Amino acid sequence: MRMEARALPRGDRPPRRRRVRNGEATNDLILSACADGNDRLFPRVLDLYVKPGSAIADVTYGKGVFWRRIPSDRYDLRATDIRDGVDCRDLPYDDGEIDCVVLDPPYMHSPGGTAHEVHTPFEDRYRNNESGNRTGSKYHEAVLDLYREAGREAHRVLHDRGVLIVKCQDEVCSNRQRFTHVEIMRMYDEMGYVAEDLFVAVRNNRPGVSRAVRQVHARKNHSYFLVFWKRGESRGQWDIPVQPCAARP
Ligand SMILES: C[S@@+](CC[C@H](N)C(=O)[O-])C[C@H]1O[C@@H](n2cnc3c(N)ncnc32)[C@H](O)[C@@H]1O
Repeated sequence: MRMEARALPRGDRPPRRRRVRNGEATNDLILSACADGNDRLFPRVLDLYVKPGSAIADVTYGKGVFWRRIPSDRYDLRATDIRDGVDCRDLPYDDGEIDCVVLDPPYMHSPGGTAHEVHTPFEDRYRNNESGNRTGSKYHEAVLDLYREAGREAHRVLHDRGVLIVKCQDEVCSNRQRFTHVEIMRMYDEMGYVAEDLFVAVRNNRPGVSRAVRQVHARKNHSYFLVFWKRGESRGQWDIPVQPCAARP
């Protein structure tokens, strides 16, 4: 007959299994929201999701703000932008060559056609129209078109479980609320990505408007870094990245 351990005399009881708890209490963690600026938040996103030494294609490099605080030898950075003649929808990489793609295209609409010529400061910063807009879409739909096509191209150059980091901001367009980050998540899910994380970057200055009549929606003072990984053949859960693509057998 089996006897319960607690019923045995103390000396005859089997040794108690010691419960091992890994790790230690800390609040030194990477948080999901901050107002420290893109140049401080972006390195934290990489720390969590991309192994040092990885091949990272920043396909909308711009002025390289994201990389200001990252040592140049930490990753194998491939920086391109439409300004250098490389369109994020047509990248110069082989299929599956890249560990991580960073995408930060213009995320606010400006008028299509030639109307951007009178919106020069905006166009200077975001280059909404420089890329040729390749679709008949305007306004928010044109913004989404670029995310869609660039997302598809990133999917081609990423290997399975490769990471896509996308910067975006919601916008109100023609008085209609457009939750761009939700639209992108839906779109990318259909494309074969898993949405794994979301970081909120809060502006640390107060945005204003030139002509205030009656406020209808909350003025946005935050944007997002969305983290996706390519589902490919390897379904299942996300895990801490083991090694960069180049080091893999
Ligand atoms: C919001 S800015 C990116 C800022 C950048 N992340 C930084 O840290 O400076 C958008 C960038 O996308 C680029 N761009 C616009 N359309 C593009 C396209 N089709 N392909 C590649 N880059 C594009 C613009 O030239 C601009 O530099």
